[in-house]
Amino acid sequence: MEYLIGIDIGTSGTKTVLFDTEGNVVSSKTVEYPVYQPQNGWAEQDPNDWWKATAETLKSVSANVDPADIKGIGLSGQMHGLVMLDENNNIIRPSIIWCDQRTAAECEQIEEMVGHDKLIEITANPALTGFTASKIMWVKKNEPENFKKCRHILLPKDYIRFKLTGEYATDVSDASGMQLIDVKNRCWSDEILSILGIDRSMLAKMYESCEISGRITETAAEQTGLKAGIPVAAGAGDNAAGAVGMGVVNENKAFVTIGTSGVLFVHTNTPVIDKKGRVHTFCCAVPGKWHVMGVTQAAGLSLNWFRNNFCRDLSYKQLDELAEKIPIGSDRLIYLPYLMGERTPHLDADARGVFFGLSAMHTVSNMARAIMEGVTFSLRDCLDVLNEMNVHADNIMACGGGGTSKLWRQMLADNFECNVKTITSQEGAALGAAILGGVCAGVYENVEKACAEIIKEKETQTPNKDNFVTYRKYYEIYKNLYICLKDNFKKLGGIENDL
Ligand code: XUL
Repeated sequence: MEYLIGIDIGTSGTKTVLFDTEGNVVSSKTVEYPVYQPQNGWAEQDPNDWWKATAETLKSVSANVDPADIKGIGLSGQMHGLVMLDENNNIIRPSIIWCDQRTAAECEQIEEMVGHDKLIEITANPALTGFTASKIMWVKKNEPENFKKCRHILLPKDYIRFKLTGEYATDVSDASGMQLIDVKNRCWSDEILSILGIDRSMLAKMYESCEISGRITETAAEQTGLKAGIPVAAGAGDNAAGAVGMGVVNENKAFVTIGTSGVLFVHTNTPVIDKKGRVHTFCCAVPGKWHVMGVTQAAGLSLNWFRNNFCRDLSYKQLDELAEKIPIGSDRLIYLPYLMGERTPHLDADARGVFFGLSAMHTVSNMARAIMEGVTFSLRDCLDVLNEMNVHADNIMACGGGGTSKLWRQMLADNFECNVKTITSQEGAALGAAILGGVCAGVYENVEKACAEIIKEKETQTPNKDNFVTYRKYYEIYKNLYICLKDNFKKLGGIENDL
């Protein structure tokens, strides 16, 4: 028997899965860790937590098989996080992760230094607080002593690769989210690096996702229970890896994920760029191909925040059952999911969450449903932008924690007004990473063929006409609310906090 491993360094935890070569799960283990929020809008994690979780999960999934039968490993991870290492490979400061919003000033500075049009032309995106470039600029300005010590800049999964293989490497899909690469040509942009004053020697070697980036070292083998020498594929950012794990590897195929953040992802054979920068165009994990995606910052995070703060005694399944009993529109309650600012379509770090229309009759059930609907509306915003760019999605696969809810999938189908499907595998990014590991090890000929063999569709939710007529009315108000609140979000964000 031959096996493959996919490791997904997520925001809430690291999930490692051992698969057979038909994509069946043999063993799976997740270890969780915290996100630190030292200030409103900030988000940091400790890379040591990622490594401890990786080592523990690897030990666990490989415990009952002969390590010699593990043929390839792939990595997937939360994108954009900044990991800085000094000359002795020590971590200089906690990682500033994707959802951190502290870098609005640095984004303005980047836009000014590079020029808005040139930035979009080369990096395919405007300067965004989520992206790595502005985080690097923030450290440069606010913690010059840390920047001075920095010799290596890595993304979260690339730090784990470094621990596993000793290599400083990354892949084109994850590197696209650093805002330092030429996305059309799939290489570091010397022009951007020189304008921003970032030394290229600090950056990792860049590969296509299914290329071998290194092999398990003797030291890593001792720490993880693996065998030295197993090839580790370059891997992919969590969305690009998730696409492989969902079989979204051909033109116009799409998926929507409701994890911590929410994403609508469409595969494209050419780089299609939104001049207004409302969606991201990144290299994808299929060599020589791209994807366009809209991102809502706080999708599952909204429900998670609500449950943890207001109804801890209820499980997500119970919340889902309660929400299902409430009519469409949550009895005239609308939620804006901007707890961590928003990317698509507003690109606004100051935006914040809102319940609109609260009445004394509303209960936990109404609020839970309004959150699910609000997140769905924000994903619908993403679809509208993609359609405007002439990027169309025919069938949409649903995944992530939220994608397991039939109610949420029906909301998606009713709002996207198209079929929403699931596949038999629940493993998303971990399966995608393992497939990339399999391609690099020669187990599969290429990514597309591996997906055609492994990925099987399961359930389809079709749009219900009555539902979508009602949703349209709520969606219209939802869209107006941001317009009405925009200036006040900015004012609110500008109030000095003396506490
Ligand atoms: C994508 C993004 C998130 C993170 C966290 O641009 O920021 O999807 O990768 O999962």
